[in-house]
Amino acid sequence: MSARQQGVSRRTVIKGAGALTAATAVPTGWAIAQARPLKVGLMLPYSGTFAQLGENITHAIEMHIAEKGGKFGGRDIQIVRLDDESKPELAPQNADRLVKRDQVDVVIGTVHSGVQMGIHKVVAESGTLTIVPNAGNVAVTRDLCAKNVFRSSFTNWQPAYGMGVAAAKKGYKKAVWVTWDYAAGHESGAGFKEAFEKGGGQVLPNLMLPFPQTNFQPLLAQIPGLGVDVVGSFFAGGGAVQFVKEYASAGLKAPLCGSGFLTEGTLGAQGNAADGIETALHYGDGLDNAKNTAFRSAFKQKAGREADVYAVQGYDAAQLLAIGLDAVKGNIEDEANLYKALRAAKFDSPRGPVSMSPAQNITQNIYLRKVEGGLNKVVGVAAENLADPGTGCKLA
Ligand code: PHB
Repeated sequence: MSARQQGVSRRTVIKGAGALTAATAVPTGWAIAQARPLKVGLMLPYSGTFAQLGENITHAIEMHIAEKGGKFGGRDIQIVRLDDESKPELAPQNADRLVKRDQVDVVIGTVHSGVQMGIHKVVAESGTLTIVPNAGNVAVTRDLCAKNVFRSSFTNWQPAYGMGVAAAKKGYKKAVWVTWDYAAGHESGAGFKEAFEKGGGQVLPNLMLPFPQTNFQPLLAQIPGLGVDVVGSFFAGGGAVQFVKEYASAGLKAPLCGSGFLTEGTLGAQGNAADGIETALHYGDGLDNAKNTAFRSAFKQKAGREADVYAVQGYDAAQLLAIGLDAVKGNIEDEANLYKALRAAKFDSPRGPVSMSPAQNITQNIYLRKVEGGLNKVVGVAAENLADPGTGCKLA
């Protein structure tokens, strides 16, 4: 149990430790606390439409822990896993279980934006250091931002904004966004619309269905009547596989584009149906940097499949945590210096150089990609070094 969770202030622990060391050679409470492993709770989907996303994040976190000899800041890292099933209704009790019952020192989670809200309620109150390795809901690093919450992935706004910029530059004028009716769908639609309309285009109201449903036919049937010259989309995981296949079979004239999750980690299952689709994302195939080359080969060895953006985000959650813990030599109770190091973190990701924004979300290039030969080939940079606006976040 951490000193914070025991209700013991850091100062009490240090004072107590000093008194003890002076009097005896017995290991101090502080030394004992430092010697125990740091518990890192992974709250991720290991079942349902996002199961593979959670698995890839986990493989990559474990990979970085192994690269660092099993220790961050000199402390052994112990992983506790919890399958959140991408079910928002279970999220508060699941997060509570990790924080209160398992008494983790750090939470890394999750994938689904609605589940993230449940985690956020719990950790904003408990003060547990939390790193978001996927879920893009803007609130977490905008109006509800918290000093103990960092994100190594993206906001839903970032890749979709990049896609909107690229679609407007291509000369498209009228678009519609097709998506699941939940935070990630709405917020990515808003990012696309903002950029596309700045570029002179018009976006119709979203076409939506409830998460995680895949009854796409009624939506696809509406598209020909809308007169759009491009269709933008946010789907991911198993749902994205099916949407892309059904879109191709429908023989629609308007090309499909989207946030890059639409074709990320899914191309094997989508086959030819995905050929030519352009998307924007903070990762892609053929990014030529040394970190990426080493990362991809190590990931393939560990997971038995190619890395994707989810693996990158998991790896970077672990890189970020290691940076913070190394800075305080494993003393997670030294919150001021821990957060200072995390906020200042600038590091090489397999996606390229990244840094943290003032609202503690990642700042990164958004690449334009095109599906060719089963790969999301990077064909340009849609938005360089793009930070989420962090609207409403006030951190001292
Ligand atoms: C989200 O719910 O924020 C989410 C889920 C899957 C993705 C991206 C975003 O691939």
